[in-house]
Amino acid sequence: MKKRLIKNNVFWVGAMDWNRRLFDSLIPLPEGTSYNAYLVRGKDKTVLLDTVDPTKSDILMEHLGDVDRIDYVVAHHAEQDHSGTLPRVLAKHPEARVLATEKCKGMLVDHLQIPADHIDAVTDGQKVTLGDKTLEFIHTPWVHWPETMCTYLAEDKILFSCDFFGSHYAASSLFVKDKRTVYDDAKRYYAEIMMPFRTTIRRNLEKVGSRNIDTIAPSHGPVYDEPSFIIDAYKDWTSENVKNEVVIPYISMHGSTEAMVQHLTSALADRGVKVHLFDLAVTDIGKLAMALVDAATMVVGTPTVLVGPHPVVSSAAVLANAIRPKVRYASVVGSYGWGGKAVEQIASLIPNLKVELLAPVLCKGYPRQNDFAALDALADAIAQRHETLEKPPTPA
Ligand code: FEO
Repeated sequence: MKKRLIKNNVFWVGAMDWNRRLFDSLIPLPEGTSYNAYLVRGKDKTVLLDTVDPTKSDILMEHLGDVDRIDYVVAHHAEQDHSGTLPRVLAKHPEARVLATEKCKGMLVDHLQIPADHIDAVTDGQKVTLGDKTLEFIHTPWVHWPETMCTYLAEDKILFSCDFFGSHYAASSLFVKDKRTVYDDAKRYYAEIMMPFRTTIRRNLEKVGSRNIDTIAPSHGPVYDEPSFIIDAYKDWTSENVKNEVVIPYISMHGSTEAMVQHLTSALADRGVKVHLFDLAVTDIGKLAMALVDAATMVVGTPTVLVGPHPVVSSAAVLANAIRPKVRYASVVGSYGWGGKAVEQIASLIPNLKVELLAPVLCKGYPRQNDFAALDALADAIAQRHETLEKPPTPA
């Protein structure tokens, strides 16, 4: 993709990564991603907002080929997908001052070995003039790391939001064309990256939302020229509201746990509860994370392996604990051969989830009539609790 005009001397100069399929050696990227950098040419000064992942540094440098002077490089976030090409930009433009939060300054020194005397720390609300345009820095800690900030360009009503509102979506269009696709990719991004900081993000949503915003230019995915839909989506995802939905991640080795989760799924559906069922042997963990954004309940299905849960289930439980969904209820179902501690071990893996643990259903071997009856009782307990979901949770 070539350098592209957003409006009034504000350009996209980033790089598409159409074929990347994994981030952090963990997160699936079914639709690739982009590393968005932006160039703002003011009457007196020129600023580059963020760089790109080092694997795509040639593309950024080509986009900047006709730029004689860069006065400032704003580093919203020290993570390498946005700051990784900073050393190369500074090598070509040693005149540029790097502007970042104080915390980001330290991280740029630590992670990228940028000389500290190249970096000026900016305070929350500080403004820098480019002549006819003004940058305002808005500190937004923990969106996504503790050092993150956004920039508001008042004259053009653009919020440069870095990871905030981003989507892992490599698209040929500069602006959002397909809201449904971008909504799904932004939700996946929120689930995997932002959800652990939900309450902090809610506060930062209010903070940036107080500006008059026409355009949101994130550092991943298309630019929002009608930003209300993504702002509303973030309000929904970060709210305390949960939906009448159950997420069931499970593994089955010989069919017993499979029979249990299938029975529970039908029993819940009969009671008007929506179910998201994920066989962890084949599932995309991003889809699992997305389902956990809204669900009121998570039920883990696991066979007992060497006295504990199946290791793949343990891994999913650790992931769920890390991304901290707002589920209110949880339980465990599964089959064992001769005994074990699967329930206790799963419970110990999810301390961050502030849930009421509903009675688990474990059976020896293949489930019998009384086991299916116990699953019906679990479905009853879940459906009954979901009847009152419009009420906020009782404070602990
Ligand atoms: Fe896109 Fe947190 O980096």
